[in-house]
Parts: sequence; C-alpha cells; structure tokens
Amino acid sequence: MEKVTKDQPVGIFDSGIGGLTVAHAIKQMMPNESLIYFGDTAHLPYGDKSEAAIQAYSIKIADVLLKKNCKVIVIACNSASSAAYELLKEYVQHRVKVINVIDPMVKWVATNFQGRTVGLIGTKRTIQSGIYSRKIEEENRNIKLQPLPAPLLVPMIEEGFFNNKISKDIIEEYLRDPSLQDIQALILGCTHYPLIKKEIKDFYQDRIAVLDSSEVVAKALYEYLHDHGLLQELPGGKDHFLVSDYTESFEASTKLFFQQSVHLEKHPLWS
Ligand code: DGL
Repeated sequence: MEKVTKDQPVGIFDSGIGGLTVAHAIKQMMPNESLIYFGDTAHLPYGDKSEAAIQAYSIKIADVLLKKNCKVIVIACNSASSAAYELLKEYVQHRVKVINVIDPMVKWVATNFQGRTVGLIGTKRTIQSGIYSRKIEEENRNIKLQPLPAPLLVPMIEEGFFNNKISKDIIEEYLRDPSLQDIQALILGCTHYPLIKKEIKDFYQDRIAVLDSSEVVAKALYEYLHDHGLLQELPGGKDHFLVSDYTESFEASTKLFFQQSVHLEKHPLWS
C-alpha cells in the first residue's frame, strides 16, 4: 500500500444523502478528521439497481476520492457495500484501505449474538445479494439470520415521513412479518434507518437489540486509523460534501441525516 499520512482526509461515499448518518457518527467520534463525502445523487437509489451498475458508479467515485487524496475510503452504503466492496478493494488495494458497512456489523453480531436469531432489514439489493447471510455463516457462531427487504422505508424517510402515524403503520407492517418473529436482535441494514431507530425501538419496547451500523462502522474506522497511526490529532479539519447532481431539496435534507445543514458542491461523475 502507498504511504498515507494522518493529515489526509477520510473519503466516504453513498448513493445519496443517507450516508451522512455514517459521516455524522464518524464526525462525532473523530471530530479532527477532514471528511470528503461523495453522494451519488445522480444515480440514487442504489437499492434497486443492478450489481453491475453499482460497481461502475463505485469505481468512478473511488477515482474522485483518490484524486482528493483520501487516506481511506468508507463505503457508507449497504447496497454499494454488498455489490461493489470486493471489486473496489481489488481496484484500490495498493493505495488505500476500503472499509464497508457490512463487515464491522457482521463481526459485532458474531461476537454478541452467538446461537441467537437475528433479523435484518435493508434494500432489495442488499437483501437479495445474500451477503449478510453468507458472512454470518462464515463466522460459524450458529446464528440464524432472518432477512427482510423493506423497500418502502427509504422513500418514506426521504419524503420526511418518520415519527408520524404513516411511518408507524409502515414500519409495523414490516416488523410484523412472520420472518421477523422470535428474533433477539435486528440489524438496520440501510443508511437511512438510523432516522427511524427510535420508532423501531418503541415497537419492540426494549425486548430486542436494535443494531445501528453507523456507530459500528465509525468504531471500525477509528480502530483502523488508530492502529495504523493515521488518526488526526490536530483540530481544524474541513469537510467537503460533493454530489453528482445538485438540487435544493438534497441540500435541505442534509440536516435530517447529518444533524446540521451542510453545503453540497456539485461534482459530476462522468465528465
Ligand atoms: N444508501 C442505501 C443503502 O444503504 C439506501 C438508499 C438507496 O437505495 O440508494 O442501502
């Protein structure tokens, strides 16, 4: 791997604005880091795209982040992590480390839920890839995974429907699915779901653990940077938020996912 230094920024990408939940968790844990966030708003949602399309977009985005001199790339999107992680790792492995949102969660579940039944909700792309099931199986901890695609949740959240009657009904409809009965934990396998974590927790009334990948991934990044002497100790890091297509409504929704409004800079993927 090429020599990277702690002063270089952390690269993060997602299909759009939802990955800002991961960026937010990273910023909370590592406030000194400079972030370069790329939201592929021209091509969202990834959740119902083909694997090949997501792979092509991900490679182009990695090129942008490498040009911006990032010291690590975080795939802050479950759909892209399931479709493009292996390819991307191969593509950039001689230059920087790639961290996806799935492996840290699988490790966490394997450590804490041995012999248990664990539910998973995510986009069609993530669930159909079967990647969580395969990786959890490989851990050999006798964990039974119960996956359920929940495609309505992303557009629902993007339209601002959460913490209200409509979101409660839709969330309950999914969580009452027979496949999710008898689970002891639920993985929130999508960048958008931290916004409805409270509603999901309320549904279960603390009977099961609700696992939010944004926190687990931030921890994985912290450990990697710490162990490799790449944590930025000096304050003053500047963040940049790039999008492949700009609209005012994207910018308005940054507040939902990042807890504060941020300015989006347009950066076309294909030039
Ligand atoms: N970021 C995607 C994910 O985590 C959700 C939005 C989309 O489908 O693009 O799977």
